[in-house]
Amino acid sequence: MNGMAAEAIGTKRLDLLPLRVGHAEEMAVVLSDPALYAFIGGTPDSPRALRSRYRRMMSGSPDPAVSWLNWVIRFRDEPCLTGTVQATVTASGSGRNAEIAWVVGTPWQGRGIATEAARGLVDWLGRQSVRTVIAHVHPEHRASAAVAAAAGLVPTDEWHEGEIRWCHRFER
Ligand SMILES: CC(C)(COP(=O)(O)OP(=O)(O)OC[C@H]1O[C@@H](n2cnc3c(N)ncnc32)[C@H](O)[C@@H]1OP(=O)(O)O)[C@@H](O)C(=O)NCCC(=O)NCCS
Repeated sequence: MNGMAAEAIGTKRLDLLPLRVGHAEEMAVVLSDPALYAFIGGTPDSPRALRSRYRRMMSGSPDPAVSWLNWVIRFRDEPCLTGTVQATVTASGSGRNAEIAWVVGTPWQGRGIATEAARGLVDWLGRQSVRTVIAHVHPEHRASAAVAAAAGLVPTDEWHEGEIRWCHRFER
């Protein structure tokens, strides 16, 4: 099974655009609030550090069975970038499995943007013959748990590095 590439995904209010290095300057501002990193760890990147990070992400996974797919979330009406979604897709004998994550900049939170983006991403993954989608959510992160649930994932009893594994299996 071949590697995958991110494609543009449209939802009602959002365009999920495949990440480019040129998004780094605007995204450094979107992701500049240290509070964003409370559950996921890390600190805000400078524009320069984010450019290097995006360059590494776009050079792709060294493992040919693994595809790194990254999108910026553009709010179509304004229009401006508001966050990111990502999927790490692993091909195995039984099909493709994806791990997903989401971040929305502080000024944009509470408007349903992560929910709409995550639903769009999960729908798209379903159309790419992905069988299982998982996300890891900190047990106290209520907003992220709500996003996972709205995207059709359910919590499992499995834990990974202090976070709960959420999962959705597509019927095939
Ligand atoms: C998690 C995150 C992406 C949510 O983004 P968002 O665009 O504000 O989410 P939405 O507006 O779609 O809201 C999702 C749900 O969370 C709820 N919510 C939003 N902010 C909340 C908060 N501070 N506390 C509790 N619930 C909250 C909303 O009410 C909504 O629930 P509902 O559908 O039951 O009404 C955002 O908080 C974030 O980027 N956090 C930092 C990065 C992170 O931790 N990412 C998760 C990695 S998997």
